[in-house]
Amino acid sequence: MASTLSRVAERLHDCRRVVALTGAGISAESGVPTFRGAGGLWKNHDAARLATPEAFAMDPLLVWEWYAWRRDVIASCQPHKGHLVLAGWERRFPEFGLVTQNVDGLHQRAGSRNVRTLHGDIWTVRCTRCSCSGFAGPGELGELPPRCTCGALLRPGVVWFGESLPQDVLEESCRLFREAEAALVIGTSGLVHPAAGLPELARKSGAMVVEINLEPTPLTRMAHEFLQGPAGDLLPALDMLLKEKDA
Ligand code: OAD
Repeated sequence: MASTLSRVAERLHDCRRVVALTGAGISAESGVPTFRGAGGLWKNHDAARLATPEAFAMDPLLVWEWYAWRRDVIASCQPHKGHLVLAGWERRFPEFGLVTQNVDGLHQRAGSRNVRTLHGDIWTVRCTRCSCSGFAGPGELGELPPRCTCGALLRPGVVWFGESLPQDVLEESCRLFREAEAALVIGTSGLVHPAAGLPELARKSGAMVVEINLEPTPLTRMAHEFLQGPAGDLLPALDMLLKEKDA
């Protein structure tokens, strides 16, 4: 592992354009349940079935109770050292892009200022009828299900299964991966597209692709380097090697 870390640090150190794609795994270490781990169940409801327009149409209160529970869990979690390293890399690399599948806002709380949230943000709501949308922090939802001033239901500002990703965010994310010299893929199972297709764009453009995960994924064979272990340990270790090379 040490040699892989050193090899990655060696190549990463002189890169100007670096991009990172993160998934639920980086937040799992902060205590945020993942979709496919033990936390994927809530009151015996499968997360993948609740995070759908159909579930919301059928029972908006149940879906909102699930999101309110997730918001409460996330509000009690803290970003870890891995989140902080990625926030610091916005200053280390001339062009550092952060693209996340996570809706929890932990990157933003760690200080990352330009986060492309492919699947939206659990701390935002939007009206199901008019164009109203906005931030709703911990404890600001009021009575469930929350309603807009126009009287219609508000929904969580996240992407549900079967829905399209925000086109502008996806297009910019594709551009970041095409232009990157190095792409880090951190804590994602690589099962959900189009996010899972981004690393391949970097690979095709000649970038070094590095995966950080507890275990191999469908993306591992495509990566040039695989760092096996928790992101909260490996990102600080990588950052320390980069700092040593600065000296
Ligand atoms: P998953 O839950 O599918 O996968 C989490 C990945 O993180 C797994 O590969 C774990 O091995 C890895 N992992 C867990 N802890 C880790 C740690 N401490 N360090 C590094 N890796 C770790 O989460 P995603 O791949 O993000 O989409 O799932 C993608 C999407 O599926 C989510 O955004 C969500 C879900 O459906 C929507 O809601 C649209």
